[in-house]
Amino acid sequence: MSQSIGKPVNRVDGRLKVTGGARYSAEIPLKGLVHAVFVTSTIAKGRIEQIDTRAAEQSPGVLSVLTHLNMPKLAKQLVAGGRQQPGMSFAPMQGPEIHYSGQQIAIAIADTLERATHAARLVQVRYRQETPVVTLQPNLKQAYQPEKVLWGFVPGRTARGNPSQALAQAPVKISETYTLSTNHHNPLEPSATTAVWEGDTVTVYNATQGITGTQKFISEMLAIPIEKVRVIGQYVGGGFGCKASSWPHEAFAVIAARDLKRPVKLVLTREQMYTSVGSREEQALQVSLGATRDGKLTAISHTKISPTSPFDEWAEPSGNVINMMYACPNFEATYRLVRTNIISGCPMRGPGEVPGMYALECAMDELAYTVGLDPIELRLRNHADVNPADGLPWSSKSLKECYKVGAERFGWAKRNSKPRSMRDGRYLIGYGMASATYPVYSESASARAQLFADGRVVVKTSATDIGTGTYTILTQVAADALGLPVEQVKVEIGDSQQPKGGQSGGSTGAGTNASAVHLAATNLRRQVVQLGIKNKRSPLYGAKEDAVKVENGRLFLAENSARGETYSQLLTRLGHKQVEAMGEWDGKQPSEKYAMHAFGADFAEVAVDPDLGLVRVRRLLGVYGAGRILNVKTARSQVIGGMVWGMSQALLEHTSMDVNFGRYTNANFAEYLVPVNADIPGDIEVEFIDERDPHVNVLGVKGIGELAMVGASAAIANAIYHATGKRIRDLPITPDKLL
Ligand code: MOS
Repeated sequence: MSQSIGKPVNRVDGRLKVTGGARYSAEIPLKGLVHAVFVTSTIAKGRIEQIDTRAAEQSPGVLSVLTHLNMPKLAKQLVAGGRQQPGMSFAPMQGPEIHYSGQQIAIAIADTLERATHAARLVQVRYRQETPVVTLQPNLKQAYQPEKVLWGFVPGRTARGNPSQALAQAPVKISETYTLSTNHHNPLEPSATTAVWEGDTVTVYNATQGITGTQKFISEMLAIPIEKVRVIGQYVGGGFGCKASSWPHEAFAVIAARDLKRPVKLVLTREQMYTSVGSREEQALQVSLGATRDGKLTAISHTKISPTSPFDEWAEPSGNVINMMYACPNFEATYRLVRTNIISGCPMRGPGEVPGMYALECAMDELAYTVGLDPIELRLRNHADVNPADGLPWSSKSLKECYKVGAERFGWAKRNSKPRSMRDGRYLIGYGMASATYPVYSESASARAQLFADGRVVVKTSATDIGTGTYTILTQVAADALGLPVEQVKVEIGDSQQPKGGQSGGSTGAGTNASAVHLAATNLRRQVVQLGIKNKRSPLYGAKEDAVKVENGRLFLAENSARGETYSQLLTRLGHKQVEAMGEWDGKQPSEKYAMHAFGADFAEVAVDPDLGLVRVRRLLGVYGAGRILNVKTARSQVIGGMVWGMSQALLEHTSMDVNFGRYTNANFAEYLVPVNADIPGDIEVEFIDERDPHVNVLGVKGIGELAMVGASAAIANAIYHATGKRIRDLPITPDKLL
């Protein structure tokens, strides 16, 4: 059946994107559109004593200035809206309290962006200022253990076996703390919302990873029925987690548009992206490993200390992955939080898995040296044949093959295990590796497939494409199920008026939406086949359903291909303008029977300048077992992005905080370093293991978005140790740390 699934089909939206024809949420041409610009707090803690908007209001072109004094009260705080769209529990502009620097305190709305920006600068604020807490150091003593983290989804402590006793008795011990700087999402497209009311119905063009989530959020915040909220987000320029939750600005744009009876556009500036949506928090990840002398793990203990906001107990759950990665009978993970004056954190690509694996895989590298084993051999000795967290068998797992294929392709055997033993001229050369994994989650989703009399197919579902290739893979899935070339299929997504699709989050998008589209297209094919079988004038008349095949839009008998006709001939003869069918994927996985994860192995080669401490990543290789790969080209692109981000986290990314003002000092692309082409090695290779998983979802798709970032930073940190003999346990590994 598979004609196009798996093939490197070009992006079906590629032409629209490069010609500017793809419209993002801030590019919707609307009559009478006005522009909203935020004023944000310059203090990190305290309250507004006086806010004077007179000059701003009198400024040319200004239509209104909203502050906490005239902003309508939200119907609800921004509390977790169920599984799909949790969010922060504090809404700014509802009172005078200031909880973090960059908190939204006023909105200036004017006829042009420039006039709104100017007016925002005219707002005068007098604060009563208090001393903020904004970093882990020197406030570690204030850390406490919360009952739950991650908006109430993850317990503050998890344990099995007797970890403290096992650790005390272990012949070999590694106990270290790995730290990670604050990292910020920097999607090319900043968060943006354009709202337009017609009567009592609002259309919200939103840069979001989840159409349904935005719809629910706006409905709840403004107390309006959900059917009165239409959400559109047909093109989204990256999300990485910061567009997976809803944030206050989305509601404010809708309120402003209602007040003014004009369409309102609100785009966060790059700087505002650092304080208007969450981030990956600064963290100290303590890992203790107990092992036998031959490297078998006997105990793992993990404590993560991280800052949270004044109102939520956020922590990305680093312990989950440390719990399930290696066979080990005794385990504990504890979260400890420090209350700080920072906006609540939020998921960022591989939320929990990325920092957890960075710490675990660096500790495993240290253990490999301590017991004198090759890092891959150590991992094989501790391979988890079942999920150690719950004892369940894996639905599929290709990790051993990932190690094997990776080692061969990378030339791991050429590695002299002794640190500082490999050189290229004056450069120190190091090879490092790390494992990767990410769970296979699932959501329910539905899709509609329509076949027209001219043989074209249109598929609709309210999924999103955040740049990953959703349009393309869903086109391929529908084309294959209907026996059509991809050119005959058009996929329409990103609109709440379409059947409910799954979000782009938690690496669920491909598996969830492909399942719904496959079911819809399969139902449609069956329905059309039935029309032929029952039609006396059809060459298919009287055939059995499963005796009929479709290829290239032509239905025919498998045993006698001469007996057949095209979709178009059949529908035209019957006088049907179109036939349509729904597909409903319930999102249910056999999670009581199987543990479901994708796995992989990352390899890195670095060259370190011994005099300058500069690290060049020369090669990256990622080998992944992630179920069925729907499109090897878009998958490869996405995975390269993940590996490059892992490199960026290892070497570059770091949001710095001015502790006196509680303000980020580098909230811009000039000083928050993300890799440019010159930083990225030319030699990045990706390999997918051919893996069939009958359990995870309809097509056996595991998802790749997060997986590719999970192992990359540890592989690079381990390669740097191998090159230099210096174990840097603090990301990013900047030149100063190596000198
Ligand atoms: Mo992802 S961090 O679930 O967008």
